[in-house]
Amino acid sequence: MTTRDLLLNTLLEVRRRSEALIQPLEPEDLGLQGMADASPPKWHLAHTNWFFETFLLQPHLRGHQPCDPRWSFQFNSYYDTVGARHPRPQRGLLSRPAIQDVLAWRESVDLGLATLLNDPAAELVELAELGLQHEQQHQELLLMDLLDGFSRQPLEPCYSADADLVIEPLSNGWLTCEAALVEIGHHGPGFHFDNETPRHRVWLDRFQLQNDLVSNRHYQAFISDGGYKRPELWMSEGWSLCQQNGWEAPCYWRGDDNEFTLAGLRPLDPEAPVRHLSWFEADAFARWSGARLPSEAEWEHALVMHGPALCHAHGALWQWTASPYRPYPGFNPPAGAIGEYNGKFMSSQFVLRGSCWLTPPGHGRDTYRNFFSPASRWMASGIRLAR
Ligand SMILES: [Fe+2]
Repeated sequence: MTTRDLLLNTLLEVRRRSEALIQPLEPEDLGLQGMADASPPKWHLAHTNWFFETFLLQPHLRGHQPCDPRWSFQFNSYYDTVGARHPRPQRGLLSRPAIQDVLAWRESVDLGLATLLNDPAAELVELAELGLQHEQQHQELLLMDLLDGFSRQPLEPCYSADADLVIEPLSNGWLTCEAALVEIGHHGPGFHFDNETPRHRVWLDRFQLQNDLVSNRHYQAFISDGGYKRPELWMSEGWSLCQQNGWEAPCYWRGDDNEFTLAGLRPLDPEAPVRHLSWFEADAFARWSGARLPSEAEWEHALVMHGPALCHAHGALWQWTASPYRPYPGFNPPAGAIGEYNGKFMSSQFVLRGSCWLTPPGHGRDTYRNFFSPASRWMASGIRLAR
C-alpha cells in the first residue's frame, strides 16, 4: 500500500468514525446544545466537513462546486480570515441543513478528497493530515458536549452503556525527578500541532509527581473538609465562580453517591479518578493537599524519565497543569487562516496534558498541549499532583 493510499484510507476511516458516533442518538439529540461553550453533534459533523471543503477542496480541487455560502457561514467556527460566521452560542438554532443533507455533503467531500489526494503535493498531504487530526479533536468534543447536554435533562439519557471510562483502581505513590536542564516539545517525524514546537530547553528543580491520578475518595475528603467553603484555598477568581455558580462538587456528581456519565447515572466509584473539574477546583484541591499542580514541562519530563510508571498518563483523563497556555519560545504559526488554528488562543487558558478515554485511538501524544479556560469543567479533566 502506498503512502497516498494509507493517508486516504486512514482519513476515510476517521470520517466513518465520526458518523458512527451519532448512531446511538435520537434525531432530536442531533441539535442539542447544552450551553454556549458546547456544540450540537450535527454541527460537529458539518464543521469538520467544512474544514476539508474550505481548506482543501475549494482552493486545490479544480472544478470543485463549493457548498452554499450560507453553510460556510454556519459551520465556520472561528476563522476570521475565512469570513463572518454564525454566533457560537446559537448553534443549537441550526435545525437546517437536516442531518441527511449534512451526511450527503460529507459523502461529496469524501469523493472530492479521494480525487484530490490521488497524487497530492506535500503541502496537501500536510493539510489533509491536519484535517484528519482536527476531525479527531471534534470526535472527542462531540462526546464531551453531548455529556453536558444530556446532564441537563431530567430523564438523564444514556448515550451508550459502554461509553463510560473503565479503569482499574489507582495506585498511590510519588515519582522523583532530579533537577535538570531538560528539553520539551515535539521532535522527530510524525504529526504534531504547531503549538507543540519549537522544542526548547527548560530548567526544572527537583520535583515529585504523583504516579497516578487523584481519586474520588481523595477529592471527597477535600469536600468533607470544607474545600468548597474555604476561600483561603482558592484563587480569587475561582472563589467568585464558586459562589456565583454554587459549585459544591465536580460537574457531574449527583449527591455523594452518583455521577452522571455517558452511560447514564452511575454509582460514584470512590477508587476511580475524580473528573470534570475546573482548573480552579484542581488548584484549590492541590493547595488543600499540601501539593500543587505540575507544570507542563514537569509532566512531559516525568513521562520521559519514568515511562509507564506514570500511570494513566494517557487514555483516562486530561490532566490540568499549572502552565498558562502560551507560545513556546520562537513559536511561529503558519501564515493564513490555518495560522488561526492554535496561536490566537494563547491567552487566559491553561494547558492540560495526556489524553482521555474519549480521545480517538492514535490521536494522543506525549507532547500534546490541550487547553481550556480555567473555569471550564465539562471536559474530561482530572488531577495529578506535584510537589
Ligand atoms: Fe474545529
